[in-house]
Amino acid sequence: MSYDGKILARARDMIAGRRRANAETLARRRAEVLARSPAVMAAEAEITGLISAVASGALKKGFDAGTAVSGVRADCEALLRRRAELLERAGFPADYLDEKYDCALCRDTGYVLGKPCGCLNAVYKAETVRELSSMLSIGDQSFERFDLSLYDDTYDREHNDSPRALAEAAFTICREYAANFGKKSANLLFRGGTGLGKTFLSASIARVVSEKGFSVVYDTAVSVVGAFELQKFDRGGADAEEVASRVRRYMDCELLLLDDLGTEMITGFAQSALYSLVNGRLLSGGKTVITTNLGGEELRRRYTPPLVSRLEGEYIALSFAGRDIRTVKRERGLR
Ligand SMILES: Nc1ncnc2c1ncn2[C@@H]1O[C@H](COP(=O)(O)OP(=O)(O)OP(=O)(O)O)[C@@H](O)[C@H]1O
Ligand SMILES: [Mg+2]
Ligand SMILES: [Zn+2]
Repeated sequence: MSYDGKILARARDMIAGRRRANAETLARRRAEVLARSPAVMAAEAEITGLISAVASGALKKGFDAGTAVSGVRADCEALLRRRAELLERAGFPADYLDEKYDCALCRDTGYVLGKPCGCLNAVYKAETVRELSSMLSIGDQSFERFDLSLYDDTYDREHNDSPRALAEAAFTICREYAANFGKKSANLLFRGGTGLGKTFLSASIARVVSEKGFSVVYDTAVSVVGAFELQKFDRGGADAEEVASRVRRYMDCELLLLDDLGTEMITGFAQSALYSLVNGRLLSGGKTVITTNLGGEELRRRYTPPLVSRLEGEYIALSFAGRDIRTVKRERGLR
């Protein structure tokens, strides 16, 4: 598992929030117990005093604090038992003043022996998926909901196959791709007209791959190029740092979904930005899924040979054909 710095920071904050909340609960309980039963708190103070005396005494004498503490463990346990009894007598649960953790394994620090704890990884994954769903409606787009019956089953001359057969092939490849995503995965280029399920399938891949904990970033070509422009021409602006981190994420994420290539305004700058993105990701080993309405001819006309040759040579092309699914759904009274 590799981590995106921004999301990891947020996940750690959330774990820290749990720790804080538990500490606050304990502090509130102490105050409550003190008000109702000072005797309990006296036992409590005795326990803390005992432990810290042993620890500091041990340090002075230069022997291991752990051994010393184990020597008075019996005393400590007796005190804890007395505290529990006193608590119950005062009408509190016996464990009312025990330290509580959401995760006992890492005691809500997020790390065990310097390695990320399972609880941190779980929060991290959830955050990755949440980040992605703010960009992409992965909520209702998944392989399970992919409907092949929406595609015509009639022969299409241009593709030498039916739209449904093409969609089925694309679907199968994408599902395998998502299930086996890793360093050896290919790059994919989805081509075809509007409303044929290209974004749908890329969102389905995104969902599965990000749930596995890979860093997945989705954006349209328009806004990717826009970010590169901002970074280049708007330096020093208020959100320069934000823009820089966005560009870094486009470059560094493990899977980038670049949607609607060809809808951005094409300028010399856009050409070179797209080239450095595609080429940089090929060099660094990041995987990219691109969707476009452009046909081969249009692609070659629009982009420079170095970019086109990479798209044609380093990407597996999947073709989509047929009628706009939006129209088909409307005709069939589906939403
Ligand atoms: N196989 C499918 N099963 C169910 N719904 C689908 C399927 N394919 C597409 N849709 C739905 O049809 C609409 C258009 O699909 P999508 O956005 O994926 O098209 P697209 O190929 O990306 O088109 P564009 O090139 O215009 O971006 C969406 O609402 C999508 O949820
Ligand atoms: Mg689309
Ligand atoms: Zn943990």
